[in-house]
Amino acid sequence: MIYFGNSFTPDFLPTTRRIRGKSLKKCYLRNSSDIYVYMRDIQMVDLKAQYEKIGPEIDSAIKSVLESTAFIKGPDVKLFEEELQNYMGVRHVVSCANGTDALYLAMMVLGIKPGDEVITTNFTFIATVEVVALLGLKLVLVDPDPGTFNISVDAIRKAITPKTKAIVPVHLFGQCADMESIMKIAAEHNLFVVEDAAQATGTDYIFSDGSRKKAGTIGHIGTTSFFPSKNLGCYGDGGALYTNDDNFARKLRSIANHGMKVRYHYDDIGVNSRLDTIQAAILRVKLKYLSEFNTARQTVADFYDESFAGCLALITPERADYSTHIFHQYTLKVKDGKRDELKTFLESLKIPTMVYYPGPLHLQEAYRNLGYNENDFILTSSLCREVLSLPMHPEMEQDQLDFITSSIIKFFDKIN
Ligand SMILES: Cc1ncc(COP(=O)(O)O)c(C=O)c1O
Repeated sequence: MIYFGNSFTPDFLPTTRRIRGKSLKKCYLRNSSDIYVYMRDIQMVDLKAQYEKIGPEIDSAIKSVLESTAFIKGPDVKLFEEELQNYMGVRHVVSCANGTDALYLAMMVLGIKPGDEVITTNFTFIATVEVVALLGLKLVLVDPDPGTFNISVDAIRKAITPKTKAIVPVHLFGQCADMESIMKIAAEHNLFVVEDAAQATGTDYIFSDGSRKKAGTIGHIGTTSFFPSKNLGCYGDGGALYTNDDNFARKLRSIANHGMKVRYHYDDIGVNSRLDTIQAAILRVKLKYLSEFNTARQTVADFYDESFAGCLALITPERADYSTHIFHQYTLKVKDGKRDELKTFLESLKIPTMVYYPGPLHLQEAYRNLGYNENDFILTSSLCREVLSLPMHPEMEQDQLDFITSSIIKFFDKIN
C-alpha cells in the first residue's frame, strides 16, 4: 500500500525507499501491513522549499533590479543597509561582497601591523583565521568552551601578551560568545574586538543588567555573511560590517570601494568588495522574514532537545543564559566514539548530517607554520571527533523531524 500525505503519525521504522525520485519512508500501522508514506527529501538547508514560499516576492525584487540596470551600488543596497541598521540597532551597516571580506576589511581599518597578535578560536570556519594570516598578523588560537562551542574566556586571558592587539570571538552556530566578559578583558588590555557574527544574524546578547544587543553590534566592529545557507542568506555571496564608530564606518565604506571618497579620488588603498544590487534586493525581502524564520528554527531545536532528552549517548546543545540561540546549526555531541557510525547510518536513510568542523585549524597543512603540535588543543580535537549537526532550517516538516529523531533513537536502542 502506498500512502501519500502527512496526515497521520504511524510508528516510523527507519527505512526509506525511493519511487519516482521521491523519498518514501516505510512505516507500520497497528494491525496493518507495511505502508510507505511520502515525505519531502530531507535537506540540511532547504532553500528550494523557502523559495516556494517567498518566490513571487523574490522574483519581483530581482526583476525590478534587472529593469533598472543599476547592478552596482543601486538604490536597494542603501535601502538594505538602512533596514538592516534598524533591525540590528546599530549606527552603521556597511555592505560588502562576502563574510570573509568583511573580516578582512575589519582587520584593515583597525590599523594592526604585521607581527601584532590576534586571538581567536580554534573551532571555527577557516575564514575567521585566514584573513588574520593574510594580513601578516600573528594568529593566536585558543580552545573553545566545550559546552557552548564558543571561545573560552579563560583561554583568552591566558593567551594575552604585550603584542596582543585584537580578539575575534565567533558567535558559533547561532549563539553569542560571552561578550560581556570579552569586552571587559579588551578594556583592561586596550584591545580591539571584532565579532564574527556570520552565523548569528538575529541573535540577542543579554547583558547582566538584562539589556540586549544584537550579535555583532557589541565589539568595535562586527561582521556577517549572507552566504545562501546563512539565517539571512542571499542567492550568491554577500556580507556586511556593523559598527557604532563613525570613523571606522567611513573608512570601511571607502576601503570596500577601492579607497574612493569621490569618483576617481582615492584616500585609502582599497579593494573591490561590494554587495551586488540584486543580492541586496533579495536580502530586503528575506530580512522581513528573518524573525519568523529564526523562531521556526528555535521550534525545531526545541523538538530535537525534547526528543533526545532521554538519550544518554547524546549531548544536546548547551544554551547560555547570556544569549538567545537562533540555531544556524543544531549541533549534538555524540559520545563513546559513535559519531561516524551514526552519521553513516543516517546517510543510509537519506538523512543528511554535517560535521562542523572535522579537523582543528592548528593541524591544517596551511597553518603548520604557527608551530602548534598535535596535543596543543585537546578540547578542540575531541570536539572535532564528537560533533554532528542535524538538518536545520525553517521549512522543516513534522514528519521529517519524527523520522530523524526516531531513527537516531532507534540507532542507539539497537546498539545498547
Ligand atoms: C563563522 C564564519 N565566518 C566567516 C564566514 C565567511 O563568510 P563568506 O562565506 O560569506 O565569505 C563564514 C561562512 O561561511 C562563517 O561561518
